[in-house]
Amino acid sequence: MYLRNFWYIAAMPQEIGRSLLQRFILDEAILFYRKEDGTPVAMKDACPHRNMPLSEGVLIGDTVQCAYHGLEYDSSGVCTKIPGQVNIPPRCRLQTYPLVEKWRWLWIWMGDAEKADPADIPDFHWNDDPDWTPTGGHFYIKCNYSLLVDNLLDLSHETFVHPTTIGNAAVAETPVRTEHEENEVRVLRQINGQPAPPLYVALKDFTGDIDRTQNITWTPPTNIVIESRSMPSGSNDPDMILEYRVLNGITPATAGSTHHFWATPRNFAPEEEVTEAFHEGSVRAFSEDVGILEKQQTMIDHESAANGGAPKWVDINADQGGLLARREFKRLYDLQQA
Ligand code: FES
Ligand SMILES: [Fe+2]
Repeated sequence: MYLRNFWYIAAMPQEIGRSLLQRFILDEAILFYRKEDGTPVAMKDACPHRNMPLSEGVLIGDTVQCAYHGLEYDSSGVCTKIPGQVNIPPRCRLQTYPLVEKWRWLWIWMGDAEKADPADIPDFHWNDDPDWTPTGGHFYIKCNYSLLVDNLLDLSHETFVHPTTIGNAAVAETPVRTEHEENEVRVLRQINGQPAPPLYVALKDFTGDIDRTQNITWTPPTNIVIESRSMPSGSNDPDMILEYRVLNGITPATAGSTHHFWATPRNFAPEEEVTEAFHEGSVRAFSEDVGILEKQQTMIDHESAANGGAPKWVDINADQGGLLARREFKRLYDLQQA
C-alpha cells in the first residue's frame, strides 16, 4: 500500500554524482545520476528492450548506454541510439520522475507528474537553517516502512532499546497524550523532574534532574518530526537548554525494505566536536532500532507464511499514535484508489 502523490526523500545530495545509482522506491527500480551541469536525474531503471537495469551500464556525457545490447537513452529518457538500426520505436523510452533539491535532501515525486508541486515538500527547514547545526544520514532497513513509523511514534522503546544514549526509565514510565486531525497526528510527552539519559549528560553536563519535552508530529505519507527540548528542572538558563529535532523521511523501498533518511539538527553548541558526538550518538541509537525492526520483520514474515495471514497484535496505550497514523494513511489510500 503506497501513497503516490507525495514527495519522498530519494537521496542525500552527495549520494548522487557522475556514477549510476540504483535505488528502489515504492517498489520501482529508479536510476539516479547527475548530468554534466550537475542537474540530478531520476528515471526508471529498466531497459525497455529486455529489462536490463541501466544502472549496470555506462554514462557517456549525459547519455546512458545499456550494458546488454548498447541502446542509449538521453536524460529525458528518450532512446537516441539502437546499434545497427535506424528506426527507433517511440515506445522505446524510459519514464522520468520529478526531482527537487530542498532542505539538503533530494525529493522524488512518484505520482502523477502534473500534480508535482515543490510547495508540497514537507517542512524540514531545520536541516537547512543558519540557526541550526545539522547532521544526518541514511539507513537501508530490511523491514516494511510501517514498522519504522510505529517505532518513531512510540518512543517508550527508548528505555529498553537505547539505554546508553537517549533512553532511561523516565521515558517509558511517562504516558503520552495524543492529538490528531486530518493529515496530522501528534504524540506529546512531558517528563518532569527526572534524571537525564546518558547522551544528554555527555552533551550538556546535566548533574541533577531535568524536564524533558518529546513532541512527535506525523504527516502523510511517512514524515515524522520529533521536537526534543530538555533543561535542568526549575532552571530557565538559556545556556542549559538542550534542543534538537529528529527529522525522519521514511521512504518505502519495497514491501520488505525501507530507506530511513534522518537528521538531528540542534540549536546549541555548533562546534564540530559536538556535531561528531551528536552524530555518533544518533547512529548508535538508530542502529539499535535497525536490529529490532529487522528481527521483528523476520518473525512477522515467518508467522504470516506459517498461518496464512498477518499476526494479530495486542495494542497498548503507547500505540495510540501509530494506530492513528495507520488510520489516517488508510483514509488517504482509499481516496487515492477511488
Ligand atoms: S536489454 Fe538493454 S539493450 Fe537490450
Ligand atoms: Fe529508537
